[in-house]
Amino acid sequence: VWYVDENVDSDKCYPQIVEAAQLLKQNEVIAFPTETVYGLGGNALSEKAVAKIFEAKGRPADNPLIVHVASRPHVEKLVTTIPKQADQLMNAFWPGPLTIVLPGGESVASNVTAGLDTVAIRMPDHPVALALLTAANLPLAAPSANLSGKPSPTSAQHVIHDLDGRIAGVVDGGSTGVGLESTVVDCSGDIVTILRPGGVTKEQLEEVVGEVKIDPALSDDGHQPKSPGVKYKHYAPTAPVTLVDGSYSFIQQIVDKRRAEGLKVGVLATEESKELLSADVVIPCGSKEELITVANRLYDVLRKFDESNVDEIYSEVFTHEGVGAAVMNRLSKAANNRIIKE
Ligand code: TXA
Ligand code: MG
Repeated sequence: VWYVDENVDSDKCYPQIVEAAQLLKQNEVIAFPTETVYGLGGNALSEKAVAKIFEAKGRPADNPLIVHVASRPHVEKLVTTIPKQADQLMNAFWPGPLTIVLPGGESVASNVTAGLDTVAIRMPDHPVALALLTAANLPLAAPSANLSGKPSPTSAQHVIHDLDGRIAGVVDGGSTGVGLESTVVDCSGDIVTILRPGGVTKEQLEEVVGEVKIDPALSDDGHQPKSPGVKYKHYAPTAPVTLVDGSYSFIQQIVDKRRAEGLKVGVLATEESKELLSADVVIPCGSKEELITVANRLYDVLRKFDESNVDEIYSEVFTHEGVGAAVMNRLSKAANNRIIKE
């Protein structure tokens, strides 16, 4: 573990970052903080390095990786063209929690793109990530640094919990800001399409490029998603999660019934409900009125339920507006789409 202040100056030289960058150049894999979640980075130009990422995470080989860059010239080397809308989005949101799928990808290792003729690229908005990318002077393929299927890591402790002994090291830059993965948009067609909701909202994208579509696979199981990762069960704690869309008394009835049957029950609550609901374990995840805080805490809360050994978890639901779209997308996946409506 290399400890680095989260406010490093990305132009200066830090021995910890130089050491981590050296290992990346030797095709080892290293976890590092970004503003969304921790990533597990490896040289995107090396088949061997990328294979180590898939192996450490236990990730299915048909799920392509995001390539992280620190500067625009790196992007130009990785794609065949930069469509106008992609250029506008990069100018508006980079560095930041937006991943852009572009035509090309022949110049990265073939296992990065899992055989697709597009490549997903993002410039992270985190001084430590930018410093590491600059020091390594390589594009870094980096999925979230969790075991496949587990909630993404928002702290170095989460990474160590999942990947200790499986990777060459972790750069610990404290906990991440956004707390959910980047928004993934496809810019290889005519209309910009959201493949995965995240920190940048549909409304924000529309202000820059006009009409934005949402991949129909996000709301309908009949469609094949364009973003392969979206089809997997994900972000899940060990105990089954069920969303409950109803009043506090309705949620309480369900919890009471299951506890009467002898189960240890957890509730993912809000600031508003934490005193009103009773269960074996009640963990608030922020205020219903402050979705940015809910996003920031969600994965940590899901992991806390694992530590508390509950048998079942019931979760409140949130608005689908703004960042709520990303929060509800991740919660629905954690719940494998189980929802009870009053
Ligand atoms: O915030 C993030 O995006 C974090 C940090 C580390 O940057 N990374 C992350 O990576 O969430 P990962 O591997 O967990 O998710 C990558 C997503 C997957 O859903 C994958 O299928 C999709 O991006 N993806 C990658 N390349 C793609 C491509 N060429 N076309 C469509 N989807 C792609
Ligand atoms: Mg992931």
